[in-house]
Amino acid sequence: MNLYDLIKEKKAKVAIIGMGYVGLPHALEIARVGMQVYGIDIQEKRVNQLNAGKSYIQDVKDSELQGIIDAKKFEAFTDFSKLDQADVIIICVPTPLDKYKIPDISYIVNSVKEIKKHLRPGQLIILESTTYPGTTDEVILPMLEESGLKCGQDFYLAFAPERIDPGNTIPFNEVPKVVGGITPECTKITGLFYGQFLKHVHPVSSARAAEMTKILENTYRLINISAINELAMLAGKMNIDIWEVIEAAKTKPYGFQAFYPSPKVGGHCIPLDPFYLSWKAKEYNFWAHFIELAGEINEQMPHYVVTSTITALNRQGKAIKGSKILVWGVAYKKDINDPREGAAYDVVPNLMRKGAEVDYFDHLIPELRIAAGNFMLENKEPILMKSIENGLEAVKNYDAVIILCDHSGFDYETLAQNAKVVIDTRNAIKSREFENVYRF
Ligand SMILES: NC(=O)c1ccc[n+]([C@@H]2O[C@H](COP(=O)([O-])OP(=O)(O)OC[C@H]3O[C@@H](n4cnc5c(N)ncnc54)[C@H](O)[C@@H]3O)[C@@H](O)[C@H]2O)c1
Repeated sequence: MNLYDLIKEKKAKVAIIGMGYVGLPHALEIARVGMQVYGIDIQEKRVNQLNAGKSYIQDVKDSELQGIIDAKKFEAFTDFSKLDQADVIIICVPTPLDKYKIPDISYIVNSVKEIKKHLRPGQLIILESTTYPGTTDEVILPMLEESGLKCGQDFYLAFAPERIDPGNTIPFNEVPKVVGGITPECTKITGLFYGQFLKHVHPVSSARAAEMTKILENTYRLINISAINELAMLAGKMNIDIWEVIEAAKTKPYGFQAFYPSPKVGGHCIPLDPFYLSWKAKEYNFWAHFIELAGEINEQMPHYVVTSTITALNRQGKAIKGSKILVWGVAYKKDINDPREGAAYDVVPNLMRKGAEVDYFDHLIPELRIAAGNFMLENKEPILMKSIENGLEAVKNYDAVIILCDHSGFDYETLAQNAKVVIDTRNAIKSREFENVYRF
């Protein structure tokens, strides 16, 4: 049976490399429509957990995972030999930046090296990891064609960016998928594949266009959030309530979309992906100023939070040194259990470095590890913190509470009543009656 028929009849076997926030929800959705899924990950612990029906991703329930295991549609592996049997291989591995903000595509390259060992005619390879335009055709294509097989003829290759928004309730299958193949045939078969479990597929003319689409989406958010953060800092100086201003601007029925201040744009995508593009831009002798500027403002925000805390304590006649500070919420956004790239990684060591005693409360994140080498750490030793319990009761024991993340389910007015001083970076406390609350 050829690949078209295998896909249409849902008999295609699908290997997903990288079982994280992106790979696992895909495995679930693809297995649910009846295709066989092999989840491949280099972390043995994750693989064992998955095979035991335990999900570590908030948006995938244990019962859903167990459902596809019981239906014998899903199994996880640490070795790559299952790639032999796979008709479709999807790459969902991390694409971080190094400490100099240079793209690190080594996870992609390592995955492709494994795929190359198992490549056979009739396979479709899809990259979902966010990356700079050119990765699929300049890096992956030549590596795979070293096998002697020809793309578009013997095997198919495409880029199809992931748009998962952790915590968002829009069903997975309702988010349109942009697909761009190396050849028109690659685009066609990739579209057919996604069409089996997603409602909308949007083909574009090339893998590069699809890669650029994803970066445009994230750049749009980074720039706009950074712009409102800059205005929030200015409004603070001018004694204007930026939150009131945003609500007022939102009454305009056209031409305005609200973005909200935050202590830092966090998460695995928005603060990182645009720098894939600004790095690549230099190859074209082009400086992507908006991206660089947005990144600069974003990186300033945690310092602004610390400065605001110092100012707030000072008004109470207290120094930061020796003060007890509670950081409330370390997830990068509300109601999710992911702290990656969040403000806490900067705010906590910065406060400690200034002599404050710091605890944190986050009912969704029981432990927070600040890695060794964080430039803000005085002795470069890692810090492992555990969330305190009963945050709302405990706030009275601290000289200041910094709300970095406003998880739902808490009465923030009570927090304001119980706390001595609050630095509210999220407008969690709606009432403007509290004199002990400082906002951006
Ligand atoms: N998390 C999101 O919200 C999101 C949204 C859209 C796009 N993305 C993009 O998707 C990609 C994956 O992100 P994620 O959040 O799922 O990452 P993640 O860290 O949650 O998961 C990646 C997984 O890949 C595994 N891995 C690393 N190298 C591997 C290899 N060589 N072979 C097999 N497995 C390997 C890791 O062990 C990990 O389990 C990134 O490019 C990211 O930018 C993420």
